[in-house]
Amino acid sequence: MRLNSPKINLITKACLKASRSLIRDFGEIENLQVTTKGPGDFVTSADKRTEKILINELLKAHPDYGIVTEESGVINESNKKQRWIIDPIDGTFNFLNGVPQFAISVAYEENNEILCGVILNPVTNEMYCAEKGNGAYLNNSRIRVSKKKKVKDSLLVTGGPKQTSKIKKQIFSEYIEISNKSSNVRKFGSAALDMAFVACGRFDGYWQREINIWDIAAGVVIVKEAGGFIDYFEDDTEFPLKKNILATNSSIHDELKVLISKKVIE
Ligand code: IPD
Ligand code: CA
Ligand code: CA
Repeated sequence: MRLNSPKINLITKACLKASRSLIRDFGEIENLQVTTKGPGDFVTSADKRTEKILINELLKAHPDYGIVTEESGVINESNKKQRWIIDPIDGTFNFLNGVPQFAISVAYEENNEILCGVILNPVTNEMYCAEKGNGAYLNNSRIRVSKKKKVKDSLLVTGGPKQTSKIKKQIFSEYIEISNKSSNVRKFGSAALDMAFVACGRFDGYWQREINIWDIAAGVVIVKEAGGFIDYFEDDTEFPLKKNILATNSSIHDELKVLISKKVIE
């Protein structure tokens, strides 16, 4: 079994097409790493190329839908009701370094609710998808979050802070606190895959401050449909595209949230 509604089919088709181009680009990275110029500019163009394929495919099917993208900003801005949310490469630094932990992430949002999402790792060919009310899948298999009950037994994942963050101290202090209280914490460098891994039970929870909506949009519906819980803590309504997110297997949610909200050392 697998999801096959028109929206999921459209997103899946777009992601697979983009993935063929991206995997060719990834093959080039190794060669570029040895040049003095390095792969920086090339990655920017790989990002743009991938995004263009996604945008073309989605616009062909629904020319009037809005699109929120990382690289090209907002398309069809007046349509806020129906929109796609795209991150062409989530995990750019991994991509840049030849680390195969990056993904294409595309979500569909209607009336401010994310209804479907696809996350595809082009290297491993793992495709995670979900649609509201119809479950979450990894390729053809249904996925579920883990059954861990306690933070002390949990394997967690996080990301950030960005070098420009003004709350680095707070983020590092949370990281220390949660590392001390959990089984272990990973930083894998792709928020989309971090969430996908929560959805399929590889990780028990993921949290991150100051994340952009395109990093997490597809992951939100995938985690929810796999039985997990999503919490936008300390939400800042002034910046609706920026979020603080906690995504867990549900069972450890309350315990982990207390650790995040704890007052930290200045
Ligand atoms: C980044 C990744 C990373 C997260 C950063 C994001 P990008 O996205 O999701 O895991 O820690 O905050 O910006 O830049 O690779 O698309
Ligand atoms: Ca991203
Ligand atoms: Ca990106």
